[in-house]
Amino acid sequence: MSHHDERTFVMVKPDGVQRGLIGEIVSRFEERGLKLVGGKFMRIDEELAHEHYGEHEDKPFFDGLVEFITSGPVFAMVWEGADATRQVRAMVGETDPAESAPGTIRGDFGLDLGHNVIHASDHEDEGANEREIDLFFDEDELVDYGLDTAAWVY
Ligand code: TYD
Ligand code: MG
Repeated sequence: MSHHDERTFVMVKPDGVQRGLIGEIVSRFEERGLKLVGGKFMRIDEELAHEHYGEHEDKPFFDGLVEFITSGPVFAMVWEGADATRQVRAMVGETDPAESAPGTIRGDFGLDLGHNVIHASDHEDEGANEREIDLFFDEDELVDYGLDTAAWVY
């Protein structure tokens, strides 16, 4: 019996929003059997960008990354399900779309490292999912409800 309630943070980046990929990306996670428990269409300000990408502060790509992620609206989400963080990362692909297998989100929709369509919590960074959910969502913005289809997934 696995835990069905692991939550992970996912975000369609400004390029994904501009290219009309929100629906496609939401569909993939729904079809997989994951449960949407939070969603927010928003703009990331400079301060939030610095907090969210704090681990990359000293990297040469940091300024460009902050500029990109603040350049237009994003769609932030929380998805729930068994092994959600690792499973979502597998569906997202590699950091570089050019290295991502076809069938993954980045492998299907991206070509350039700086414009990789989607963010997802790092499964190799313990607690990153909870940290990022807390950063983007208040507790009362996460919706607790039953999902009929879950009875057929598990
Ligand atoms: P990272 O956390 O390493 O990748 P991921 O999004 O797969 O967890 O890096 C964060 C973002 O920074 C990444 O999605 C794209 C950008 N980035 C660059 O622009 N250049 C780079 O060399 C790297 C490693 C990342
Ligand atoms: Mg990362």
